[in-house]
Amino acid sequence: MGDRQIRVGLCGFGIVGQGVFDHLTRKRKLLGEQLGADIVVTRVAVRDRSKKRDVQIDSGLVTEDSLSVGTDPDIDIVCELMGGTGLAKEIVTRALAAGKIVVTANKALLCDHGKELLATAQKHGGHLLFEASVAGGIPVIKAIREGLIINDFSRIDGILNGTCNYILTRMTNEGLSYQEILGEAKAMGYAEADESLDVDGIDAAHKAVVLAYLAYGKWTNFQEVRLAGITKINQEDIRFAEDNGYAVKLIASLERERQSKALYVSVLPALVPKSNSLGSVDGVFNAISIHGDVVGETVYIGPGAGRHATSSAVISDIVDSVKLLIFGGPEGRFPFLDPAPKNGSELPIAQPEEVHSRYYVRMRVDDRPGVMAEIASILASRKVSLASVTQKEVGENAEKVSLIITTHMTTEKAIEETVDDLGRLDSVLCSPMTMPISEFGQ
Ligand SMILES: NC(=O)c1ccc[n+]([C@@H]2O[C@H](COP(=O)([O-])OP(=O)(O)OC[C@H]3O[C@@H](n4cnc5c(N)ncnc54)[C@H](OP(=O)(O)O)[C@@H]3O)[C@@H](O)[C@H]2O)c1
Repeated sequence: MGDRQIRVGLCGFGIVGQGVFDHLTRKRKLLGEQLGADIVVTRVAVRDRSKKRDVQIDSGLVTEDSLSVGTDPDIDIVCELMGGTGLAKEIVTRALAAGKIVVTANKALLCDHGKELLATAQKHGGHLLFEASVAGGIPVIKAIREGLIINDFSRIDGILNGTCNYILTRMTNEGLSYQEILGEAKAMGYAEADESLDVDGIDAAHKAVVLAYLAYGKWTNFQEVRLAGITKINQEDIRFAEDNGYAVKLIASLERERQSKALYVSVLPALVPKSNSLGSVDGVFNAISIHGDVVGETVYIGPGAGRHATSSAVISDIVDSVKLLIFGGPEGRFPFLDPAPKNGSELPIAQPEEVHSRYYVRMRVDDRPGVMAEIASILASRKVSLASVTQKEVGENAEKVSLIITTHMTTEKAIEETVDDLGRLDSVLCSPMTMPISEFGQ
């Protein structure tokens, strides 16, 4: 083991914090030999010291004063593993202002305050690392920052929320409803107590904002992300996908529009061809497909959350921090950790009329003559071209039926206006459900 001791403080000792402590402790000797430095956790902050933990820890290391851990002059690397955007922000800000290295897994914090936190780091010589904030155990941030540094990205698409992917996979494989699986997922601890963060796409949108900064240098406002979750997906959507060679996935996409070069950031349920690299990624797994102009498409698949996967990513940041402390340049900078951001801060956000896709629309309609003609007339008035119409055969006396249409290429604006118009028809019984059909072309 090397002579130099690197002291780590953990703010948070929950799922991730305990994993980081456990793996750092188990691999301390090996890491010491590899890095020439002894990494040791010297302080741990929690909310409630009396809480029983899964991982054993010397109680002398534990405090309820997390702010003091963030600012402790004897700590080299502060890991913020608490979550939230209140106290976590204060700790990270103070640590960066003191010129420290901060490692965080907190995508909500980065989405809301990443820009100012990085500015604070820059101003005071601190460093902010966040590999675990996107796609858990998949080293996608390192891939974008380092392995793909020479590339411009035409698009990045990802399955970034394992809970949604788990629910959609079980809906597909077992024919169960969204509500039934959500209940089980909560009981098994897969979904948050407040499931909205997962199923409404908010968590994936936080991650998309972080990826957009890394890939393009632009901090997108959360409100600028085109966002829908999976709560409206039902078995009709799943069966349609199955019958037509698609899978329903919650897809986070970053896309440069071809002509205007505007940036489109979205998290939407989508029909993904099964033959596509993301179409067969099932269960709690995450996956990301990145199109670079030099390398072409690269795809990353792996566990996106959980104690071990997330710890793996946090520890990779800790190890990079150790390298920085040992080998950092004269001003304490280290190009791969503090790259000059890509030059995209002025990129415009794409408007709905610039975004092109094929679309799937499901609606419940009266089963009577003339309804299809009304629908076709609305599509024609919006210049949306029909690709297919599917209506399940029903008995003679059925009054309502489900009608599914798919369109040829059109714009997001045209499909939104079409769906609004359709929703106003007396024969259409509730607002139609729509999702893009994603081919992920370059
Ligand atoms: N879990 C995952 O799979 C995963 C994956 C990727 C990223 N993340 C991110 O990692 C972070 C931590 O997640 P987690 O799942 O480990 O959360 P968690 O299990 O709820 O743990 C949070 C920890 O922070 C402590 N804490 C919370 N508020 C505090 C306060 N005011 N003062 C002191 N300590 C406080 C808690 O203390 P007590 O234990 O005493 O309550 C707990 O130890 C979050 O930002 C999350 O988004 C998690």
